[in-house]
Formats: sequence, C-alpha cells, structure tokens
Amino acid sequence: MTNDLVIQGLVKTFGRVHAIDDLSLTVKQGQLATLLGPSGCGKTTTLNCIAGLENPDEGLIRVGDFALTDTAKGRILPPEQRQLGMVFQSYALWPHMKVFDNVAFSLKLQKVRRDEIKKRVFEALDLVGLADMAERYPFQLSGGQQQRVALARAVVTRPRLLLLDEPLSNLDAKIRENSRVWLRNLQQQVGITTVYVTHDQSEAFAMSDMIAVMDQGRLLQYAPPEELYASPATQFVAEFIGATSFLKGAIHAINGSRLKVRVGSGDILALSDRSGRQWVENQNVVVGIRSERVEIARGQSENLLHAGVVVSTYLGAKWQHEVDTGSGRLKVETVDSVTSDRLSLYLPPDSILLFPE
Ligand SMILES: Nc1ncnc2c1ncn2[C@@H]1O[C@H](COP(=O)(O)OP(=O)(O)OP(=O)(O)O)[C@@H](O)[C@H]1O
Ligand SMILES: [Mg+2]
Repeated sequence: MTNDLVIQGLVKTFGRVHAIDDLSLTVKQGQLATLLGPSGCGKTTTLNCIAGLENPDEGLIRVGDFALTDTAKGRILPPEQRQLGMVFQSYALWPHMKVFDNVAFSLKLQKVRRDEIKKRVFEALDLVGLADMAERYPFQLSGGQQQRVALARAVVTRPRLLLLDEPLSNLDAKIRENSRVWLRNLQQQVGITTVYVTHDQSEAFAMSDMIAVMDQGRLLQYAPPEELYASPATQFVAEFIGATSFLKGAIHAINGSRLKVRVGSGDILALSDRSGRQWVENQNVVVGIRSERVEIARGQSENLLHAGVVVSTYLGAKWQHEVDTGSGRLKVETVDSVTSDRLSLYLPPDSILLFPE
C-alpha cells in the first residue's frame, strides 16, 4: 500500500462561483505536484480542502487508505488531525517567539518530550541551514531566512503531506531562484509528498514531478513538465505555459501523424502531431508556434514562413521582433538586429502545435 495523495470528484462552490469543479488527481508518494493557473482558478481553495480549512461540497481526499475528507460518508477530519505541514503565502512567524520556539510550537502542543523536541527542532533547523539562529527573533532575520523558519516549522512534525501556497512569493527574483532549487532538494531529501501552488510557470517547471494546469476550477491537464510542454492538451494550456503565438490555418495534407498545414500567408508548414486527435483535410485549425524555437531562415527550403516586421525591440542580450504573417502576429527573437522589413522564418517541425479551431 503506497501513501499516494488521492483526490476524487472535488467540488466547491461559493454561492454562484464554482471555485473547484469536479477535480480529480493523484500525487504519488514522495512526489511534488504543482497546481498552476491564473489568479482565481481555485488553487488555494484546493489546498484548503486538502488541509481541512475548507469543507468541499463533494469529494474524497485520502492519503493511502487514510481518508481526510469523504463527503459521501460525512467524514471531515479537523485540520489538526490530518498530519500536514503547511506554508502559506503570508507565512507569519510568531514575532514574540524565538526561532526555536516557533519551530517547537506544534511539538509542544503534541506533548512531545522536551529532549525529543530539542532534537527534532535542531534536525529541522539543520535541514533549512539555520541551526545557528535558533535564539534569534523573527525581526532579526532576513525575509528568506524567515521563510526557511516557516518551512522548518512545517516539516518538524514529520507530516504525511506538505502543502505550500506560493511559499517563495515574498522573495526577490534572485533569491527566489536559489530558494526553489534549495526547496526542491529539501523536498526530495525528506521524501515528502508535496502539493505546491504557484502562478509562476518557470517555478512550476523547475520544481515539479507533475504539473496540474487549472482554469476556472477545472483541471485542464495533469502531466510531467516535459510532456506538458511538448503536447499541451488545449490552446489555453499552450498559452499559459509558454511563449506561444497562434495563427489561423487549415489542414493541407495528412500522412498518419505527419501533417501539413497551410497558414493565411499561403505558406505550408510540416509538423508531427502528438495530440492523437483526428484531423480532416481542409479543416480549419489554430496553429500554435513556440516563439523561442523560431529562427531566421538560412537556406532551408521547407517550413518557411514569410512575414513583415511590425516592431523590433532591443532587449540587451537579444532583439525581439513582432512580425505579421497575414494570419496572425508572432514574436521572434534574434541575437543580431535585422535590416529588412520582411523576414523569412524557419519553423522547426517540433515548434508547431495544432489545435481545433
Ligand atoms: N471564501 C470565499 N468566498 C467567496 N468566494 C471565494 C472564497 N474563497 C475563494 N473564492 C473564489 O473562488 C475562486 C477561487 O479562489 P482561489 O483563492 O482558490 O484562487 P487562486 O487560484 O488561489 O488564485 P490566486 O492565484 O489569486 O491566489 C475565486 O473566484 C475566488 O473569488
Ligand atoms: Mg491563491
């Protein structure tokens, strides 16, 4: 019996708002799954349901055989009996308590023996690299150090689940990037099943075993990062997780999973479709293009797209050009400036995604 986190048929409404709309997903024991999606899509509400801070209208939430919430059986376990560690966006530490006491607090509530508390608090502080700051008060720490104390506090009880809601949001960009590597290492070292919430896609890609993309309370796709990037299930997912531009087009020819599409400019693009969808010739489609893969053509004879430059912007390390293809606009990056107001672009087959119109 593994201790996977299993969520089935979760529904939560607030009046007329469907905050969570029939959400099901499984987080394998020891893995980190990220809930990713725009503001208001239901990430925090999902986390709160797992934590027992919010009661869903319907649904089952269990860890292995241990049911946390089962609305069909009227079971709603109170938060303190769920054995969870949590860090919220505002991870407030108790300002009047030293670091040691902040971390020791829930162990004291559990009436753990004093020498055992000391041992476990220092274990947790060691993990986050703050063992020498146990005697400080929160105001004597930097923001990043405070966040680490909050994490130590969350793992010290050896919870069966770790729930993290934008735990790095209060850090500046540089520290944030270091912290996510550090946090991911910590999670893997402790081997704790974790649900992580962010609306930052690069953070989601850097940290996750699995990513759940949500919109308006619905789960749109649940997949490992590489799969999500290579074959996004819908146009929304493609748009949300990467710099994708969309052009109107039509199916030109079909040869198994190898397709040719014609875009408005008249250019023909070949691609290999991984979506498993059925297509028919002349069907109208939306062609998604990964901007970061597009190149200025250098002698290629296929997969060329001709476009006029609308505006070029110098970004320091590179140039970004917005181009008009006649069937939609596209952003393209080059290292050098371009001199012509028309460009021949080369689109590698794996830079092209296809969606029904
Ligand atoms: N207590 C509440 N009462 C009424 N509506 C609520 C309540 N809590 C959340 N909502 C609504 O439910 C939806 C989901 O909210 P939630 O906080 O889960 O979003 P989120 O994905 O965490 O967004 P963000 O990225 O902004 O934190 C939103 O439309 C929100 O307005
Ligand atoms: Mg939220």
